[in-house]
Amino acid sequence: MNVPFLDLLGQYAAIKQEVHQKLDAVLGSASFILGTQVEEFEQAFSRFLGCRSAIGVANGTDALTIALKAIGIGPGDEVITAANSFVATAEAIVHAGAKPVFADIDPDTYTLNVSDIKAKLTERTQAIIPVHLYGHPSDMDSVLRLARSRGVRVVEDAAQAHGAKYHTRRVGTFGDAACFSFYPGKNLGAYGDAGAVVTDDDEIAGTVRKLRDHGGIQKYQHDLVGYNSRLDSLQAAVLLVKLKHLDQWNEMRRQHAQLYTKLLSDVPGIVPPSVREGNTHVYHLYVIRVRRGSRDALRQYLHQRHIATGIHYPTPLHLVPAFSYLGYKAGECPVAEDCANEIVSLPMYPEMKPEQVGYVVEQIHHYVETVG
Ligand SMILES: Cc1ncc(COP(=O)(O)O)c(C=O)c1O
Repeated sequence: MNVPFLDLLGQYAAIKQEVHQKLDAVLGSASFILGTQVEEFEQAFSRFLGCRSAIGVANGTDALTIALKAIGIGPGDEVITAANSFVATAEAIVHAGAKPVFADIDPDTYTLNVSDIKAKLTERTQAIIPVHLYGHPSDMDSVLRLARSRGVRVVEDAAQAHGAKYHTRRVGTFGDAACFSFYPGKNLGAYGDAGAVVTDDDEIAGTVRKLRDHGGIQKYQHDLVGYNSRLDSLQAAVLLVKLKHLDQWNEMRRQHAQLYTKLLSDVPGIVPPSVREGNTHVYHLYVIRVRRGSRDALRQYLHQRHIATGIHYPTPLHLVPAFSYLGYKAGECPVAEDCANEIVSLPMYPEMKPEQVGYVVEQIHHYVETVG
């Protein structure tokens, strides 16, 4: 059996007709920059989340940079985020002119540890970016309580958590603003790069609209120094089609995750992901920890049996060479460092077959019994 890490072609086959119709409409209108499809998607996405505004941008990294600038982050400011995230979260802080400060993560949910945020707050801290990593919501009540008590802003990084819920609300509706990536492999993925900033704050929304399009709303009126970071109309058309399927696809991911977790629960040394009560996980990634034996040897064993795996992420951000200028040392975010050595992301996509989940787990069992 062959189990890829994800299967974008399988999903494309299921929605091909709908997608082609929408793409034809864009091609027939020759309206490629902003316009109807982008507006329609922005409205549909804000309705889906339950927030006032969604503003389409070119990718998730730009969404974070632009959102930070729109809330006023700039030189001299510090922004706290999780040590275990994709590099883009920290890049955006630097692009906004500020200094990234890395806090450790919770060992069960892999999201920000709020006590460590508290320990890292200074008088220069102006924002916190909780990352809903792998599709599990951050502890938003604690993050917001702390942020409000210190007059600090919150920008959610929801790039991996489209549709996830923290209690009754979808993530993306808690912070001053939230950012999404529609990179092709995401739970809601375009056919190229795309992203969005969402917010309930009309002033922030207005600034984001300007920043994404050279600093103005009207042609040749530039109130701010902005970016060329508009959501492509063809990508908006694809996203409009896919958004209608998102809840169902997330449910399919959850079913595969439940099966994985059930079958893995008695494998010695393997820790399946946990879900904190009150959260709806959307399993962008299904990440296990390998406590005994070597994670890399397990990956190699699975690779030889045609099972693709990943590591998200191999180096915690405070130890990534690009951020060495910040002066972090190994040992400063111990949980994130341990996780980076032990985590493996198993294949996860809606179109997976239960037999494929079974095969992956069977091979992990074999590995632990014979090698690990
Ligand atoms: C947690 C996180 N933040 C930010 C990004 C950046 O998004 P993009 O790749 O669309 O720029 C990604 C995805 O790639 C991500 O996973």
